[in-house]
Amino acid sequence: MAARSVWRGLVVSVGVIIPAAGSGTRLGEPVPKAFVELGARTILEVCVAGVLDAGVADTVVVVVPAELIDTAQRLVPEAVVVAGGAHRSDSVRAGIAAVRTADIVLVHDAARPLTPPGVFERVVAAVRAGHPAVVPGLPVADTLKRIDPHPVDGAERVVATVEREVLRAVQTPQGFTRDALQRAHADDLGLATDDAGLAERCGIPVHVVAGDPLALKITTPWDLRIARDVVAEPNPSAGDVGGSEEPSPSAGAVGGGEDPCPSAGAVGGGEDPCPSAGAVGGGGDPYPSAGRVGDERSEEPYRDHPTHDRSST
Ligand code: CTP
Ligand code: MG
Repeated sequence: MAARSVWRGLVVSVGVIIPAAGSGTRLGEPVPKAFVELGARTILEVCVAGVLDAGVADTVVVVVPAELIDTAQRLVPEAVVVAGGAHRSDSVRAGIAAVRTADIVLVHDAARPLTPPGVFERVVAAVRAGHPAVVPGLPVADTLKRIDPHPVDGAERVVATVEREVLRAVQTPQGFTRDALQRAHADDLGLATDDAGLAERCGIPVHVVAGDPLALKITTPWDLRIARDVVAEPNPSAGDVGGSEEPSPSAGAVGGGEDPCPSAGAVGGGEDPCPSAGAVGGGGDPYPSAGRVGDERSEEPYRDHPTHDRSST
């Protein structure tokens, strides 16, 4: 694991929580999703190896179903293994309790085992730069429509086409100062599908960095098939996954590598030190310093980076 790093004179430690306690209902395999095979290893093993390869973590905490603690500890001896809860956020809270000494905490779903190192690096860099909450996100490729949630006849009816340019499909790892993550989870009702959503609810600004098509979430059998294909490839790259000849956006595309908030204070400040940065929901350019793909005026500025991410957590 990474040695504790010094950032602007401060020793900063990074803890990574991997929620892996879900049952994988939509996947429909006989074992919980994190214990399903992906190539020669389980999804959990691939995920933990990816976190370790990224080199950002001082501590890795894996949260699994209580009855699988021993199994998980054998599979990933490098990690601290704890029991999860009924909802994802219960599991994350169990993880938070096990990373008490970390200054920065990443929450990374086991269900995204192929996430490349660049995504971890961008998220950690943005938290270090002063953003209390950071998510990786990708532009949305599909046209999205809002439907009537209460149709009189039970049939689905479109009520609006949503403006796609201001939408992002959000992935993990999501990064937080420990204080921000604890505050976000303090009054949670257990129903949130991601941690940044809880942060938003209590007024913590959420900053977006570039995600990666390889951080796709395994939810359905189709997703598992795609992930297995990627693992079977000798040299998978995001370009292959996305059906594009462009290299992965982690190689210096949207928000990649750069300090998104160079004047921001270091980790630990309670206030948002970078209020003009592109928090979710802001109307401006979310990646102001980025040399983004497709800067030429195009109707589809991100057409080279379609996403396979089709569901939230
Ligand atoms: N998770 C968890 N504890 C829970 C529920 C989910 O740790 N009580 C984890 C899952 O293991 C997964 C991540 O949260 O890594 C995202 O959840 P999701 O993809 O929905 O996985 P499952 O809940 O397992 O799948 P499903 O909703 O289809 O049952
Ligand atoms: Mg679930």
